[in-house]
Amino acid sequence: MFVYLDNSATTQVKPQVADIMAKTMTEDFGNPSSLHRMGVRAEKLLKQARTQVAGALNASSDEVFFTSCGTESDETVLRGVWESRRKQGKRIITTAVEHPAILRSCEYLQRQGADVVYLPVDRYCRLDVEALKAALTPDTILVSVMHVNNEAGSIFPLADIRRAIDAVDPSILFHTDAVQSFEKLDTDVRALGVDMLSLSGHKIHAAKGIGALYVKKDLHIQPFLLGGGQEKGFRSGTENLPGIAGLGEAVRLAEEGKRERISHIAKVRARLLSLIRENIPDIAVNSPEDGVCSVLNVSFLDCRGEVLLHALEQDDIYVSTGSACSSHKKGSHVLTAMGLKPEEIEGAVRFSFCEDNTEEQMDYVCEKLKAAVSSQRRLRAAFKKR
Ligand SMILES: Cc1ncc(COP(=O)(O)O)c(C=O)c1O
Repeated sequence: MFVYLDNSATTQVKPQVADIMAKTMTEDFGNPSSLHRMGVRAEKLLKQARTQVAGALNASSDEVFFTSCGTESDETVLRGVWESRRKQGKRIITTAVEHPAILRSCEYLQRQGADVVYLPVDRYCRLDVEALKAALTPDTILVSVMHVNNEAGSIFPLADIRRAIDAVDPSILFHTDAVQSFEKLDTDVRALGVDMLSLSGHKIHAAKGIGALYVKKDLHIQPFLLGGGQEKGFRSGTENLPGIAGLGEAVRLAEEGKRERISHIAKVRARLLSLIRENIPDIAVNSPEDGVCSVLNVSFLDCRGEVLLHALEQDDIYVSTGSACSSHKKGSHVLTAMGLKPEEIEGAVRFSFCEDNTEEQMDYVCEKLKAAVSSQRRLRAAFKKR
């Protein structure tokens, strides 16, 4: 049985999305900037996708800009805000568990003179809003806190953070990386109180290489690319129309029956968690109780997560040991920041779900997982005896 449980790394493109993308490449292939009929048709598709994405964010269409990925959206915010506001203040507040797109950009800005505060998290990757309050100073220009952590699945309290910011200075900008929460949680930008929000297509069954950035109306930040002036001059470069139209369609599909879809994913996740708890001893659940429906992180003690990953792969089951971008490097900065013991970090596996997963699949996964864990523990015990 094929079971793909690495949906936080990337998702399978929906057939309807692929169809629209193919049509946009082979039939509606005009350049939205062209004045002829082909251009006008392309422009219409662009507008439609923008309206679809804006609708899912409760934003207006002119607040949505298409980018090439979540990474570009994140980095545009960090560098753009710094360029535009560095004269007003030097402090940027973020967390120790952000995606490298944020962390590497912060390190770059520190070299330019920024005073970056990395807020800590607890054992279940939860943020203490009091720590954020203490870090807010009149010198703060930006707070960037992710909505959902990609490795642990914890949800950060964005509305509380907005309130804390407003108590100090409402003009401090607030950005969230919503790459892992978009279409899994409510991402109403007005309710969350964010000024900017990043999202990525390939986490919601659209293609790789398409992302978007919400920027609150009348907020001017320095653009990254200074070319032909597309996206109202904010993001130059001929629009990736197939990717954009595909993202619009993926959003349309995700918005349809969103509640039922999320509750199905939550049920599948709960099933796997209870099966693991009942059948496999010596584990530590690293995701918080109130985490997102799509992520479950568990440490199998006396095991190496990477060995489990490859054992499961033999049974056509696909999981991850951390985020896809950090799993090739040593250790996970997220699990380390959570204060996990080295053996808990070593034995961590991330299961990440989408609506295509079923409860029956979870029975199969647990059976294979149990066998893989036992066999690894037996081998390790035999090795220790020698
Ligand atoms: C939280 C988070 N932010 C940003 C990104 C980067 O998105 P993209 O792959 O579209 O650049 C990812 C991808 O894993 C992510 O999980």
